[in-house]
Amino acid sequence: MTENINNNTEKKRILSGIQPSGALTLGNYVGALRNFVELQEEGLYESFYMIADLHSITVRQEPKNLRKNTMDLLALFIACGLDPKKDPIFFQSHIPAHLQLSWVLTCNTYMGELSRMTQFKDKSRKHENNINAGLFTYPSLMAADILLYQADLVPVGEDQRQHLELTRDLANRFNNLYSETFKIPEAYTPKVGARIMSLQDPTQKMSKSDPNENSYILLLDPIDKAVKKIKRAVTDSEACVKRGEGKDGVMNLMSIYSAATNKSFDEIELEFEGKGYGDFKAAVAEAVAYTLKPIQERYNDLMKNKDYLEEVYKESAARASYVANKTLSKVYRKVGFVQP
Ligand code: TYM
Repeated sequence: MTENINNNTEKKRILSGIQPSGALTLGNYVGALRNFVELQEEGLYESFYMIADLHSITVRQEPKNLRKNTMDLLALFIACGLDPKKDPIFFQSHIPAHLQLSWVLTCNTYMGELSRMTQFKDKSRKHENNINAGLFTYPSLMAADILLYQADLVPVGEDQRQHLELTRDLANRFNNLYSETFKIPEAYTPKVGARIMSLQDPTQKMSKSDPNENSYILLLDPIDKAVKKIKRAVTDSEACVKRGEGKDGVMNLMSIYSAATNKSFDEIELEFEGKGYGDFKAAVAEAVAYTLKPIQERYNDLMKNKDYLEEVYKESAARASYVANKTLSKVYRKVGFVQP
């Protein structure tokens, strides 16, 4: 029965998204975007990539910044290597089905489940003057994003795992109540770099909302600035490049280096045996610069071609909404809405 849910395609499906609520960090790249590109290159999946603008407004946004960040993010997706000819890259707000399914799922989500979400708790703490209902029901919208496309796999960083678990629960609940409707999606987190930490406090996640700008690297940081941030990264007094207790800073740099070079932790330890943090940081900085430079060049070219970007998001929305609307009408029928 579940095999038929995807209807006319034999390929498994992927959906993922990133919020356009500020500049992208190296954490977003290593934890998510880089894996979108790798998975697309493998060619085993039919994928849908989304710029989650509806999610962004759960935190107050300056409209003109939101518009700019949304276009920037589309250009960055492509600059990082995603090919919109292969798979659509769309703006979430262009497909009303996300909100329509979200309502149905919200009516099947318990307050207790939403109260347990750590992202809700974190964001409520950070934005205590704007703890709005959307911030609370955010995970039901995220579940709608995923379930609309009957996604098998959802590439995300570690911090989204809890939302994925809830999505699976909601899909199972709906299937049990109304008969088999949704695929049960799996999270796909990378082996290395699923949680890139702050360069200044390696017990905290690297995040663009951190007030200390030395704690994160942005994909569009000027290269010399990114290099400086790595050189200033917090390490420890042991001066030894290896894994171990109390070496969170070094292990974080090892993750970044590993992601940028594809070297394993064992190889990295061997490479820097007998060398100090100066040499290690110089190598990490060089690897990061090598990663960022071509992305920034492609991004700059793409931003000169707004017509192309417009073509991409329009065509993508048309492709994605076809799939989304199919699931939505099935859901509307099953819950008992009269067909329009
Ligand atoms: P967002 O926009 O906060 O982050 C986008 C992706 O980047 C990952 N990420 C990280 N990975 C490793 N280390 C870090 N420091 C780091 N910081 C962020 C996140 O895990 C995420 O994969 N709710 C989502 C957006 C979303 C979504 C979806 C994702 C909306 N609908 C449906 C997947 C499927 C979010 O806020 O991600």
